Amino acid sequence: AARVLAKPGADGPVAALAADLQGCTRCDLCRHATQVVPGEGPKEAALMIVGEQPGDHEDLKGRPFVGPAGQVFDRAAALAGVERSAAFVTNAVKHFKFLARGRRRIHQRPDAGEVEACRWWLDLERELVKPRVILAMGATAAEALTGSGKHIARRRGRAELLEDGTEMLLTWHPSYILRLQDKAAQARAEAELVSDLALARSLSE
Ligand code: URA
Repeated sequence: AARVLAKPGADGPVAALAADLQGCTRCDLCRHATQVVPGEGPKEAALMIVGEQPGDHEDLKGRPFVGPAGQVFDRAAALAGVERSAAFVTNAVKHFKFLARGRRRIHQRPDAGEVEACRWWLDLERELVKPRVILAMGATAAEALTGSGKHIARRRGRAELLEDGTEMLLTWHPSYILRLQDKAAQARAEAELVSDLALARSLSE
């Protein structure tokens, strides 16, 4: 499912939106990131998947979820029967936020102002794609879409209705799963990501 022959959505309005994004200066994150990372996928995707922000790999490649978190995501999507190239995959924030430590770039969580500034683009992606279902992975995506990133454990597994009627599901962020030290907890969270992806797929069909 993760094999992508051509960059999905590389033409038409999805590409036009990605081009508009290139010059974004709505917040300061554009000053240090290598490049903006637009959402990718077909304009007619029934399922939109929203992460937090590009990581180190995504910042260098210009594509969402292509690093270690992307590998967790791709594995879970394959197990859930979600074809990645049929979904619109994006992030709440489109530039990588990091702290430079020598040659290392340490991920920093985007703040509320950055999430709010970038919601402009997420809203445009939503208007363009009009997905039937949105799967928000992690607190930042949940905050961007609903105003609250709290209580993922309690909220996951059932759909919430966004104000425009779109069904939204919350799930764990793949990077959170990667950070879990306890192997049993990690396996449980990964299984929940798979089941949330499968539920999102079936609601979107
Ligand atoms: N984490 C995210 O939230 N998005 C990406 O694209 C990569 C890592």
